[in-house]
Formats: sequence, structure tokens, C-alpha cells
Amino acid sequence: MSTSKLTQDPHVRIFDTTLRDGEQAPGFSMSPAEKLDMARTLEALNVDIIEAGFAAASPGDLEAVQLIATEIRTPTICALARAVEADIDAAIRALETARHSRAHLFIATSPIHREFKLRMSKAEILKAIDASIRHARDHVDEIEFSAEDALRTEPEFLVEAMSCAAQAGATILNAPDTVGICTPDEIHAAFTNLIANVERPQGVIFSTHCHDDLGLAVANSLAAVHAGARQVECAINGIGERAGNCSLEELVMGLAVREDIFRTNTRVETEHLWPASQKLMRLTGTQIAPNKAIIGKNAFAHEAGIHQHGMLADRRTYEIMSAETVGAPGSSLILGKHSGKHALGQRLAQLGYQPSPGDLNDAFKAFKTLADRHGEVTDADIVAMMEGYSPSGSAWHVVRTELRTTTGRKPTQFARVELEHPDRGRVSDVATGDGQMAAAFTAVQRITGLQADVLGLETRLLNSGAGREFTADIEVEIAGERSTGRARGPDVITAAIDALLFTLNRNEARQCAGKTAEPA
Ligand code: KIV
Ligand code: ZN
Repeated sequence: MSTSKLTQDPHVRIFDTTLRDGEQAPGFSMSPAEKLDMARTLEALNVDIIEAGFAAASPGDLEAVQLIATEIRTPTICALARAVEADIDAAIRALETARHSRAHLFIATSPIHREFKLRMSKAEILKAIDASIRHARDHVDEIEFSAEDALRTEPEFLVEAMSCAAQAGATILNAPDTVGICTPDEIHAAFTNLIANVERPQGVIFSTHCHDDLGLAVANSLAAVHAGARQVECAINGIGERAGNCSLEELVMGLAVREDIFRTNTRVETEHLWPASQKLMRLTGTQIAPNKAIIGKNAFAHEAGIHQHGMLADRRTYEIMSAETVGAPGSSLILGKHSGKHALGQRLAQLGYQPSPGDLNDAFKAFKTLADRHGEVTDADIVAMMEGYSPSGSAWHVVRTELRTTTGRKPTQFARVELEHPDRGRVSDVATGDGQMAAAFTAVQRITGLQADVLGLETRLLNSGAGREFTADIEVEIAGERSTGRARGPDVITAAIDALLFTLNRNEARQCAGKTAEPA
């Protein structure tokens, strides 16, 4: 097949690896049920391929791939495997029920990986590629081959490895920038070389998989597409190993907004981008920077007077895409006691919820109560309200906090905290500590029986004056895993306790959901 013929194909396949490369990064692990929930959102987004996990890594990963393969019918479901029989057999087993299955086999090809990690010669690598693909090919619908650390591999050997994979039966050839070292010019040249020289049957496509160690993953993926790659591996919010992967939302909008340059299309329903991002943040308890492209809360905010003036005259003065295109909530829609069920349903969808009609009715009743109490109902209120509905039903919440400092030569800080739990009722405790906040945290941990090391806490005043409100962002480590939480409240201590409780509740809910093991 000639290069020109390949580049005439305008369809760039979106291969989502949020649930594999993304999920294996510290702080992003999800239970099988949470992964299925996210997979449904990826299906609504209309990605072409969902990489559901690394089946051999843990029983939890295997279960998640099986669950997703059974439940999700539109996209191709993919499982990762090293080029060894035991891994491949696990992937095949996990994919048995998929409507359309893909095994993703990988082995490293670069000199540094060959010598220090694998201790294999070039000939041995080629043999492993050939044997592993032949072992898998009759048991799945298609095979993708990845040459790990491809972009640090000798170009001639990379061509040889990819040709070997294509001849053995792989129809998608992925050249990852595993360590995120490339520049856009280099990756363009590498793909141009592969497309020109890899010997392959008709229909084989090239794929790019870029890590963001130098902040170039999106630029590099776009450069690979420009050179002729027709699959991009990417993740929601750019999550992934170390600095992450190419961010799906930036890549998709880059291709869409600069269609004049790339002349390609994806099948992504872009108005689902914001909800997908929100859902991932909620499931993993991690926040993104407010200035993050496409999905950050400032991405469509215009504060400077001169910008607001331009925007009022014509939005195109400062906006290259509209908030609606990516499903971001329009700033004008404020929810309160006069809002109807339809408006709530719309906001829930934007926040990544897909409630059944019955759940929407229940949510609407709770929303009305909240609106009566608080007037304006914020997104954070809605998320808290919805999480209170979570099937685990295990949410602790604060009833009362009293803080005291004794005077005298050795002042002591006390906190009395009263929490309520749907099953355990009201429980209170009094604790001392180095400061009122530390005392309150100790009381919370004693009541819940859950331990968390607080790694960071940041509080911010939102509104001054009568409706004073604070937010607290907390980072904790629970049983060796990092997690973050955010909450708001009328004072810093209430907000901080709520943020801590958010992380503890999440952790407890996950344990109830039966997370078994971590991926490799
Ligand atoms: O970064 C990488 O090389 C990978 C491969 C397994 C595709 O994640
Ligand atoms: Zn990767």
C-alpha cells in the first residue's frame, strides 16, 4: 500500500487507554465496577476502541476486562498483554464475550530495553513477536502490536520488527514514545519512515502512543497523524504513567478545530468530552488544573474586561470553539429552587451522570430540598448530593464541630466532632492535637475507624461578606494510595473536615465494591 493511499483515509481511530495506561498510574486506580461505569461514558463518547486493562496484571484487572467486554457493545474492547503466552491467554480469556475483540501485544525493541530489561537479542525479539502474534491470532478479532520504546529504537530495526508483526497477522502497528522524549519533527519523520518502509498487507494502520514527560504528547500525536498515523492512543484528562498520556479531549478538539490542516475526522461525540472528564475526576478523586485546555473550569471563562467586551460583541474574538461543543456548562444557567427536572437532568449529564428516570425523580426531590436550604445549588452541591445516593450508601457526614483552645502556660487544642452514618447513626469523639484542625482530623479518623495521612491541605475564601464560603482541597494517603478531595463550607475547618471525609468515604465505598488487586 502506498503512503498517499493510506493518508487518504480520513478516519483517525480514537483508542482510549484511560482504563489501562491511565488507571495504572498512582492515584487513578478504579474498581471493576468503577471501570465499567467509566467504560459506559467512553461508549457514549463514541471512542473506537476501549483498552479495558492488562488482564494478567491482577484478578481485578481481569474481572474489569471481562465485565466491560460483556457489557459494552459498540466500541472494540482491547486487552493488553506482554508477548508471552501466559499474558496472551489471560487476555484471550478476558475478551471471550466481547462483540469485537482486540489483543494488544507488546515487547520492547530499543537497545536500552533489549540489553537491560529483557536481555534479548534482536533475533530473539523478532522470534517473540512472530510466535506471540501467531499464538493469539485465531482467538481474537484483531491484533495490535506495540514496539515499546519504539521512538528510541534503531529505525531499521523498528521497520524490521513492525514488518515481522504485520506478516504474523497484526493489523495495527503502534509506535509508542514510551518515555516522552520526542519532538513533533522527530515523530513526524519516524512515522513517515515507517509508512514508507514497513512491509505489510493492505489495510494495516499505524498508531501513535505518546507520553507527556516534556509536555509534548498532544503535539507529538498530532504530528504523527499529520505523517499518516490513523490511530491515536490517548486518555481522558491525559492520565497515564508518570506525566501521563496524550489527552483525548485536546487531541480530538485539535483535529476538529484545525481540520483545515489535518483533513481528518474522528467519530467522537465532542459534547460528551466535559461530562467524561468530570466523571473521571469524580471516580478517581483527582482534580485537573483550572487552566487545563478544553476541560479546565477556566477554559471558557472570560474575566478581563477587554475580553468580556469582545465576547459580548462577537464570541469569536476570543473563542476558537464554543463551550457547548465540548459539553461544558454554560455559565448563565444557575440552578435553584425554581429550576425544573429537565434543567437538573441536563446538568447531571454535563457532570457525567446518567440517572435512570427513577433515579432522576429521587435526585430531583433531594435537589428541591437542597435548593430550599441553600438558594443557588452549585455543581459541587449536586455531586455531593449524588454521591450520597451512591449504592454503597456509606457516606459519613458532619453534624457538628466544636473547637476549643485552653489558655494558660501550655495551651491545648480540642475538637469535638459529631458525624452521622446511614448505618451507624450519630457518633461523636473528642480529640486533642497540634492545632484545632489536627485535633478535628484525629476525631474524624477515630469515629470512622479509617486512617489517612494528610499530605497537603489548601483552603481558599470563595465569597467574602454575608455568604462567606471556603473551599478546601486535601491530599491524603490511605493504605499506601494517594487520593484527593474537595469540599466547601462556611469556615475552613468545616470545609477541610468535609474534604477529608470525602476521601475516606470514597475509600470505604471502593472497598465495599470489592477492589481486589492493583494493576502492574
Ligand atoms: O508507553 C508504552 O509503551 C505503552 C505500551 C504498552 C503501549 O504503554
Ligand atoms: Zn504508555
